[in-house]
Amino acid sequence: MSDKLTATNTLRTTQIESVKTENSTTKTYTFTDKQCAKAKPGQFLMLWIPQIDEIPLSIMNTEGTSVSVTVKNVGDATRHLHSMKRGGNIGVRGPFGNHFTPNSGNVLLVGGGTGTAPLLYLAKQLATTAKRLSFIIGAKTRNELLFLNQLEPLCTEPPTATTEDGTYGLKCIATQPLETLLAKKGKQKLDMVYACGPERMTRQVFNLTEKHRVPLEASLERLMRCGIGICGSCMIGKYRVCKDGPVFNSKRLREVKDELGISKLGFDGNRIPA
Ligand SMILES: Cc1cc2nc3c(=O)[nH]c(=O)nc-3n(C[C@H](O)[C@H](O)[C@H](O)COP(=O)(O)OP(=O)(O)OC[C@H]3O[C@@H](n4cnc5c(N)ncnc54)[C@H](O)[C@@H]3O)c2cc1C
Ligand code: FES
Repeated sequence: MSDKLTATNTLRTTQIESVKTENSTTKTYTFTDKQCAKAKPGQFLMLWIPQIDEIPLSIMNTEGTSVSVTVKNVGDATRHLHSMKRGGNIGVRGPFGNHFTPNSGNVLLVGGGTGTAPLLYLAKQLATTAKRLSFIIGAKTRNELLFLNQLEPLCTEPPTATTEDGTYGLKCIATQPLETLLAKKGKQKLDMVYACGPERMTRQVFNLTEKHRVPLEASLERLMRCGIGICGSCMIGKYRVCKDGPVFNSKRLREVKDELGISKLGFDGNRIPA
């Protein structure tokens, strides 16, 4: 193991400095970690919840030596984390994985659920460099739309919001306005689409960008244990999502399309729906 990876992979203990409730299921945690504060948009960290578990989380923001992650309560580890308050002890490894490639042209970001978190971090980076920055943000219902207020000043035009139940924005799934946008040719042609969200959404984004020949970078999720490419629990095709990803470009997505949004390895090593 190289010295750099050893340092990144060493567990550092730190304390929760602030907890912000985003909605009934999602909270943002901020803590100090010098190494993860150097992360690029798209990278993730492994967060250890003492005596419970260690889970992969995308880095949502960094400022000085502060790092923020946004966490949805979905099971055992995230439920325990949600019960923790300011001053609570946690452990951190990382940052791990690759990152989104900045594009200075006409870019569109498509986020679903907590997948909006790493895209907010990316949008902050692209806001000063991209010619045009558009955002489609989708959720099941209004309360689950994350970071709309933060996204608005970063985008060239107000973000397009979609909800499945029609409680805010367009009543449809996020890929519907994407299809309309991609069909527009000429000046508006997109130079890059970035996506992060439920994998079935990512699969549809992939199909649409392929049809309209627009490059895509999508962040994928798989079950993860080691986070550094050793255990194999995060495989998709021949790739390890923790090391070769989590960001996959169109070329790599084509190689894994038989699994994308379809199946993944479960904790017992058997294949389960993605
Ligand atoms: C690279 C990456 C970045 C992620 N970023 C975020 C984020 O920013 N915010 C966020 O809320 N969630 C994120 N996740 C998902 C998060 O890791 C899981 O929700 C969490 O591990 C669930 O743990 P649990 O014990 O609460 O749930 P469990 O009871 O273990 O399971 C609940 C659900 O979470 C999934 N899950 C469980 N463990 C893992 C794991 N180790 N890796 C991936 N999925 C798992 C299971 O498939 C199941 O559907 C990310 C996952 C990956 C791989
Ligand atoms: S999590 Fe172990 S190889 Fe990716």
